[in-house]
Amino acid sequence: MDVILIAATTVDGYIARHSNEVIDWTLDLHLFKEQTMGCPVIMGSNTKKTLKVDLSGREEVVVHRHDNPKKILNNIKTKKCFVIGGGRVNTMFSPYLTHIYLTFHPLVFTKGIKLFTGLKNEMKLIPINVVPVLNRKNLFQFQYKIQK
Ligand SMILES: NC(=O)c1ccc[n+]([C@@H]2O[C@H](COP(=O)([O-])OP(=O)(O)OC[C@H]3O[C@@H](n4cnc5c(N)ncnc54)[C@H](OP(=O)(O)O)[C@@H]3O)[C@@H](O)[C@H]2O)c1
Repeated sequence: MDVILIAATTVDGYIARHSNEVIDWTLDLHLFKEQTMGCPVIMGSNTKKTLKVDLSGREEVVVHRHDNPKKILNNIKTKKCFVIGGGRVNTMFSPYLTHIYLTFHPLVFTKGIKLFTGLKNEMKLIPINVVPVLNRKNLFQFQYKIQK
């Protein structure tokens, strides 16, 4: 199964200014919707709280601190699923990720929630694709495969 981390980040690698931020600065929501539609989306409880609406057409899997990521993934029967944040959950699922899709936004936050919170192990990524963000000039999603 493909386990794809998908995120919008600032140029300095942040996904939010703080844990409760309602993200209103992303410009790639159309692409996010198109790519995740029909797939399970795994998210942390903080991220769930910040969503204004349910992610319709997608099974939402909300993760808590004592959950076992491997067990959660074993219960998913689709060919791919998405890990959609936040920083803590991205780290929790990091050993199982197969791909990372990132849209860099023209912002610098200097502090906040990093793409991975407290990640200990380095990762090597293989660039596999660059996708233009729908209706947005000069904004691209960078797709990477994780070298195992
Ligand atoms: N830009 C983007 O693409 C993007 C995407 C997604 C989210 N975000 C933003 O990211 C932010 C949320 O990220 P986040 O990292 O704070 O939260 P998160 O990963 O969404 O949720 C927190 C997770 O960590 C667990 N946790 C909480 N405290 C812990 C602790 N002390 N030790 C271990 N685990 C703990 C929680 O479990 P419990 O439920 O048991 O507390 C939950 O599973 C929000 O602002 C959201 O809007 C941005």
